[in-house]
Amino acid sequence: MEKIDTIKQPRTCDQPGVDKTIVLVGLMGVGKTTVGRRLAKRLGLPFVDADSEIEKAAGCRIPDIFECFGEPAFRDGEMRVICRLLEGEPHVLATGGGAFMNDQTRQAIKDHAVSVWLKADVATLVERTSRRENRPLLKTGDPVKILSDLAETRNPVYAEADLIVESTDGPHEQVVEAIIRALQDHQDRR
Ligand code: S3P
Repeated sequence: MEKIDTIKQPRTCDQPGVDKTIVLVGLMGVGKTTVGRRLAKRLGLPFVDADSEIEKAAGCRIPDIFECFGEPAFRDGEMRVICRLLEGEPHVLATGGGAFMNDQTRQAIKDHAVSVWLKADVATLVERTSRRENRPLLKTGDPVKILSDLAETRNPVYAEADLIVESTDGPHEQVVEAIIRALQDHQDRR
């Protein structure tokens, strides 16, 4: 695995889910990157952000990839980058909101990782995504409508994730704790 955007932490014992990569999926603004970094730290695993890896591989920012090469080219790169990352050592992987919609990517995640759907209501996502200008899909119209439509089409697919955790409005640590509990339950069931 490339060491780019990776924070190495000492591994702690008795932590759940460390034998497989933990993949965070869910809509834009749900907190996959922020929560993922903290989760990785807690579990003593490296953290990797798929969108950052795609930008490094492409040599340009995501809005520029969309503008210059189009969304299909982005999706293709996204699939290849995530499949490569999944072949590496266990880590926490934050994916872009559309990654889990790709059949090949979703299958690779199911085969190699434990997936966690971070879930939040549309109003929360609208508020959180309004803080940054880096999401090309939200620039094509009304963000409320776009996120509502995406939630409708994507939520049934995100629901295929191994675990579902609410991304509450409270401190990120609360969400991290909820994921760790869900991973522990998942491990106990295996
Ligand atoms: C996308 C989500 C973005 C990024 C790209 C497309 C999507 O990532 O991959 O703009 O299709 O939902 P985040 O979910 O991290 O914002």
